[in-house]
Amino acid sequence: MSTRAALVTGGSAGIGLAIATMLVDEGWSVTIVGRDRDKLQAAADRLGTERVHVVAANLAEDVAEDVVADHLRHHGRLDLLVNNAGAGLIGPIQLKSAKELDVELNLNLRSAVRLVQESLPPLRVAALRDGASWIVNVSSMTATETPPYASVYSATKAALVAFSRSLHAELSSEGIHVTALAPGLVDTPGTGWAPDDVRDRMIPAEDVAAAVLFLLGRSPRCFVPALPLVTAGAGMHELVDWRSFG
Ligand SMILES: NC(=O)c1ccc[n+]([C@@H]2O[C@H](COP(=O)([O-])OP(=O)(O)OC[C@H]3O[C@@H](n4cnc5c(N)ncnc54)[C@H](OP(=O)(O)O)[C@@H]3O)[C@@H](O)[C@H]2O)c1
Repeated sequence: MSTRAALVTGGSAGIGLAIATMLVDEGWSVTIVGRDRDKLQAAADRLGTERVHVVAANLAEDVAEDVVADHLRHHGRLDLLVNNAGAGLIGPIQLKSAKELDVELNLNLRSAVRLVQESLPPLRVAALRDGASWIVNVSSMTATETPPYASVYSATKAALVAFSRSLHAELSSEGIHVTALAPGLVDTPGTGWAPDDVRDRMIPAEDVAAAVLFLLGRSPRCFVPALPLVTAGAGMHELVDWRSFG
């Protein structure tokens, strides 16, 4: 039997790389997606196995069909889709240009929807064959904590939770497990703007990867439509002075 295969967007850094590392350690084959080919290749070298395939693509553009086809050409099966790539421009709403708005909506939400659409045929095959396949959408604690100056980002992350919960209702009877992971602040290159004392209190990316491993290990009768991962105390409002972004 070929090894189980995962497609991890944003797999060249931060949370995505931690998830890809965990999967490789667990014996999976993995495709990692990002825009920068050199960064992808450096991540693949670090992962150090031929079971890693890289696909350079800008997910803010309409590339989902090509990305999934490329993954399937290389690995021949898809058991887990991790919609992790995402970004947000933090700042006053009136300063966000229409172009920036499109990029944020397309990357954080539209690409996740399109990748699910393109991934469903092989995920259905995997669920029929093995009893389970998985979709993990990386949302954020901002979906519910909604800090100021992060309105569009928070809205896309809240939409990912609703998308995941509705998909769970649609697909779980087929054995397809859908989860929205909602971490608080995670120590990654994406949060490089934070001072050291704040970074020291953030969630390690490896803990998010461990949450994915937990999801993969549930019995076929246990579904987890949403999973929050939080820092100690009052959460992201305590860690960051969001008003300073105004
Ligand atoms: N860090 C946090 O505190 C935190 C908390 C909650 C949720 N999240 C969410 O977790 C996810 C990962 O965050 P992170 O902090 O690990 O990010 P990160 O360190 O900035 O890494 C982002 C990854 O996504 C890729 N990427 C960015 N834009 C892309 C695009 N347009 N097309 C394809 N790939 C793209 C990057 O590669 P390239 O730059 O080469 O494209 C990189 O591999 C995001 O969805 C984020 O919203 C993060």
